[in-house]
Amino acid sequence: MNTKRISYEVNDKIAYCGFGFNCDKSMTVLDEETLTELKNIIEELGNRSSELEGAVFFSHKKRCFLAGADINLIGSMKTESEGAHGAEQGQTLYNALEDLSIPTVVCVHGVCLGGGTEFSLACNSIIVSDDSSTMMGLPEVKLGLIPGWGGTFRMPRRIGLPKALDLILSGKTVKGKKAKRMGLADGIYPRERLLKQALFHLKGDDKKKTFKDSLENFASDNFLSRKIIFQKARESVLKKTKGFYQAPLKILDTMEAGMMKGRSSYLSSEAQAFGELCVSEQSRNLQHIFFLMENAKKFSGPKGNGELPKTDRGAVLGAGTMGGGIAWLMADNGMRPIMKDITVDALNLGLKQSSSNFSGAVKRKKMTPEEFERKQRSILAQLDFRGFQRTDLLIEAVVENMEIKKKVFAEAETYMSENALLTSNTSSLSVEEMSKALERPERFAGLHFFNPVHRMPLVEIITHSKVAPETVEALYNWVLKTKKTPVVVKDGPGFLVNRILMPYLNEAGFLLEEGVTMKDIDDACLNFGMPMGPCRLLDEIGIDVGVKVAKILHDGLGDRAKASKSSDWLVEKGFLGKKTNKGFYLYDERGKEIGVNEEVQALLPENKKAMDETEIQLRLFLPMINEAAIILEEKIVERPSDVDLGLIFGIGFPPFRGGLLRYADTEGLERILDAINRFSNEVDFDRYQPANYLKELVAKKTKFYEQEA
Ligand SMILES: NC(=O)c1ccc[n+]([C@@H]2O[C@H](COP(=O)([O-])OP(=O)(O)OC[C@H]3O[C@@H](n4cnc5c(N)ncnc54)[C@H](O)[C@@H]3O)[C@@H](O)[C@H]2O)c1
Repeated sequence: MNTKRISYEVNDKIAYCGFGFNCDKSMTVLDEETLTELKNIIEELGNRSSELEGAVFFSHKKRCFLAGADINLIGSMKTESEGAHGAEQGQTLYNALEDLSIPTVVCVHGVCLGGGTEFSLACNSIIVSDDSSTMMGLPEVKLGLIPGWGGTFRMPRRIGLPKALDLILSGKTVKGKKAKRMGLADGIYPRERLLKQALFHLKGDDKKKTFKDSLENFASDNFLSRKIIFQKARESVLKKTKGFYQAPLKILDTMEAGMMKGRSSYLSSEAQAFGELCVSEQSRNLQHIFFLMENAKKFSGPKGNGELPKTDRGAVLGAGTMGGGIAWLMADNGMRPIMKDITVDALNLGLKQSSSNFSGAVKRKKMTPEEFERKQRSILAQLDFRGFQRTDLLIEAVVENMEIKKKVFAEAETYMSENALLTSNTSSLSVEEMSKALERPERFAGLHFFNPVHRMPLVEIITHSKVAPETVEALYNWVLKTKKTPVVVKDGPGFLVNRILMPYLNEAGFLLEEGVTMKDIDDACLNFGMPMGPCRLLDEIGIDVGVKVAKILHDGLGDRAKASKSSDWLVEKGFLGKKTNKGFYLYDERGKEIGVNEEVQALLPENKKAMDETEIQLRLFLPMINEAAIILEEKIVERPSDVDLGLIFGIGFPPFRGGLLRYADTEGLERILDAINRFSNEVDFDRYQPANYLKELVAKKTKFYEQEA
């Protein structure tokens, strides 16, 4: 056979088909070329079935079996019927594989997702490598899709309905060991033994066993128990997604309606569901985010000529809320950090923080107790600078005070090696100003983590006029290594995320002053898809902290960022939010919200104003879009995608909307500008001054993302 992407060889009557052949990319995706070759190979296997005793599929790649369908291909589908047709083509191919009269074994090593897992399900036996890179799953739901190549048909038949629903509705992946445990894989072996073991599986009775088992599994789920399983799954989806996401509900409908159908009738409804979803705005938005995330995995800023500084060993200054979390992150990434503070009590607090993060991982079985011990003990807590010379990356997280920070940096620098990176976790101070305290400002930058460090996926890398490109690139790569998302931001008040968040929080305060109720404000945002309303969010941040940041932004940005008074009223009363158990809401000792703080009502206007939900949303989200436009104009960040990634990962802006600026593009910039102008006349001239950049885009009849393309 003449193939390019998939190697094909027959040996002792066994056909060996290897994906990822002749291709220098690290991942193999099911693009048009690969699919065409696969079709030819399956046809060949069918034609030669009388001479062959079996077929084995494997991969030539180091860490990938099949990463799934080419998302560009999905994105290119314009209509429902085109989408459905695309799904049918994949289904036909996998049906042909399943229907081969010779036994088939797939040897999964590395990433095997989506169409890759669906491919495996159509083989008689699945064996997996025990390598940590091996993972299987159907993550389509995360792109707003249903697995469309028979995954929702074959998965429940292989592992039973409850486990299949869990995998398909969450889109989660499982490692080799778990795949074996749950019955998805028939065997697990070291990578180098996979091909040899495949021969045993070819001759064994995996197919019969698996099919019989799954049939029993399947039949035992009688009508009533199936109804209950689907009902529970639907409840859980609605609880998790608050009904905002169409794909999991469509998956449930398709699977439930098709439970008793035969293969071809079932698959045609799966293909139809795929067609409907793949052209939906929601799926397009989620696909857009997927590409943003993929692009963010590679540093795209200016490169220097020098070698990149190392980031092997870490040091943390300050063992408080943030320092403890950062020390944990470094220890988790094998950096054996030194954590320095000025009191033993503070050090103990920092150690307690990291220990509680690690023990959470042990409880979730993500870490063994031995690993916990080793990693926790790798943090050296101390009161002096011993050993700092041997560290490569220092992250400062002492109190938010410019003079103290400058002093701390000037001292720390004398203990560090020449090439070491020094960074500050400041959330509001000027990094440009701070850099003046250093002898080697080119090796210094801001590294802004969000609280809590172990949960929040975003890190802002703050640059200044003297920073070296190698410093930025090394920090970017390091953040990626910790599995967080970096965004490079130029120094400026509030950096990126807090600067865009503030008008949202501030505007909520002004609405309260106007007499709109707290409930109406928070509900409007929840109904937009935000994880919490602005009043509730202020309680989390700390209302006093919000007041401080608002002041910094007002000072730095002028009157468009003037602050509302409502937070001041709460602070005067000692209602600081969750940390004092009282803010806009009340909290119990464990921090659980237990209702509205009625005392706040007394501080707000008596006459309540009813406001339409859409109007509230416009009042809150338009100032964010406007500020983002100014940020782009000032080149605080380079691209709209930086804004969107920052807000999705920094404040949980609803992913199904594709990000703040993608949402603005979808709504239409002209309508947005009109509404801002209206508010400028009716509400406040300064706060709703439209950004020049936005006006320009409207004049040019273009969009934010058309500038990025
Ligand atoms: N808490 C947050 O939500 C958050 C989020 C992002 C960024 N930040 C920033 O992180 C930094 C730390 O904030 P935090 O909330 O962890 O503060 P924190 O008050 O909890 O901890 C500060 C720690 O620094 C120690 N410290 C003070 N002077 C020191 C010195 N000279 N050397 C070593 N340690 C010293 C203190 O003893 C204390 O343990 C601040 O710059 C803050 O703006 C905080």
